[in-house]
Amino acid sequence: MSHQLENIQQEALTKIEQAKTMLELNEIRSYYTGKKSPLAEIMKGLATATIEEKKTLGAASNQVKQAIESAVMAKRMALEEAIINAQLEKEEIDVTLPGYSFKKGTIHPLNQVIEELEDIFIGMGYSIAEGPEVEVDVFNFEMLNVPKGHPARDMQDSFYINENVLMRTQTSPVQARTLLEAGGKPVKIVCPGKVYRRDDDDATHSHQFTQFEGLVVDKHITMSDLKGTLSLLMQKMFGENRRIRFKPSYFPFTEPSVEVDVSCFKCGGKGCSMCKHTGWIEVLGAGMVHPHVLKACGYDPEVYQGFAFGAGIERITMLRYGIDDIRHFYTNDYRFLKQFEGDR
Ligand code: PHE
Repeated sequence: MSHQLENIQQEALTKIEQAKTMLELNEIRSYYTGKKSPLAEIMKGLATATIEEKKTLGAASNQVKQAIESAVMAKRMALEEAIINAQLEKEEIDVTLPGYSFKKGTIHPLNQVIEELEDIFIGMGYSIAEGPEVEVDVFNFEMLNVPKGHPARDMQDSFYINENVLMRTQTSPVQARTLLEAGGKPVKIVCPGKVYRRDDDDATHSHQFTQFEGLVVDKHITMSDLKGTLSLLMQKMFGENRRIRFKPSYFPFTEPSVEVDVSCFKCGGKGCSMCKHTGWIEVLGAGMVHPHVLKACGYDPEVYQGFAFGAGIERITMLRYGIDDIRHFYTNDYRFLKQFEGDR
């Protein structure tokens, strides 16, 4: 190999070795392998050389070129690695540090109970019905046998939008809506939903709360169907050994009407502070659908009968979990809600 070539190679390799950045390396590379490089000059000179010279010098030049190329390649890899290493060092993380924990949302306890109730009733062949929370007087009261001026309206004083439109005071208007829609066919529905009453809020009352309505209309429906259905419901909600009892009551849209008590799930009926030493806890209102309601919705009460019930979801949930203040449900206190994490 000629001295000249040897020098070029030496010089190039040294410079490559000393390159500190990719940019520098690229410049060195194009200087030593480009069209105007000293090597290219030598190659050009070969045109006038002898055949022998062409052979040896040509081969030697190529060797030098290759040596330079592979030195560049090796240096490039070394530089890349160095860049990554520097970055890794800079961005070093301690993988043994504990991570951030995410706060997982939970299903609200009221919704958990609603879902549970829905599951129970779907299992018995019911469908889920819905109705508007802003309701017309006709559905909220009149179709339910509560004409204007009826004293029962006082119990459910509402928030009126105008004379004929109000925030529904109960989920019972969905009874009338469903029956009208069914057009005389049998009906078997449950309906969970929010209701509103002008009430003074305290530990057991809220101007907005949640009800769970049930309605069955068909031929040959009797009060024992109602009793059987509610017994099963209470057993599923409060334990296998629960019994229920009916007490006479009054609702304008059911006749007869009943209050339903469940045997105390804390003392089993012996009497304790939970059941105020009576052995029984009042849980919901129910009754046989009033003939006036059936008629108003196009059903012949001589042929069709039905039962209906309405429960307060808050009350059931409070009893079940020993919650002492209804306002816990609405204040979004994480410490309260967190307690219902694992339930569903
Ligand atoms: N709607 C009644 C209330 O809010 C409850 C009820 C529903 C009673 C269905 C009987 C039948 O008090």
